[in-house]
Amino acid sequence: MIRRLSILALLPLTLGLLAFALPLQDGGRQGGRPEKSPLAKQMEVINGSMRTVGRGWEANGASPEMLSALADAEQAVLAAKALVPGMLAAMEDEAKKDEELMAFRVEMNALMRGMLDLEDALIAGDNGAVEKSLAALGDLKDAGHQRFKPARGR
Ligand code: HEM
Repeated sequence: MIRRLSILALLPLTLGLLAFALPLQDGGRQGGRPEKSPLAKQMEVINGSMRTVGRGWEANGASPEMLSALADAEQAVLAAKALVPGMLAAMEDEAKKDEELMAFRVEMNALMRGMLDLEDALIAGDNGAVEKSLAALGDLKDAGHQRFKPARGR
């Protein structure tokens, strides 16, 4: 009887340990989804900010909200520049990998320049220049993803 009771008392502890251990066994995945890389997280910030600006600039111009969204994007680009795309991390040819990493860095610099151009255009209230800058950023995104991001969900 006492033995059965002590087994019962251990049950919650065992279940608790299992609940802790199972997600670890899943390689840090939650609900089967791979955890986002540090670079993907910065890209999400850039994406959110660019959406905010893309949808709001005509109505809001260089409002504090638009400028703050752009500042978030610029900070995310700076952080992204120091990170390694998953595709490059997996490369075995070290010389080629270094070359691609530098090319990635140069593209991040172009992205930053594009964002600064967009900011200047917003502040100047130059709608034509804002449209041009947004289109240039879209092109940089497409080219960057083509070269550095695995095909799925490009
Ligand atoms: C306005 C410009 C850009 C936007 C809005 C954007 C947005 C995104 C989004 C939404 C993701 C998916 C993140 C996720 O998995 O949740 C992503 C991933 C990625 N982006 Fe961008 N991106 C931009 C520009 C660029 C540029 C210029 C490059 C490279 C030069 C780049 C390289 C990558 C890479 C490598 C990934 C995959 C992350 C990884 O390898 O870990 N992106 N981006």
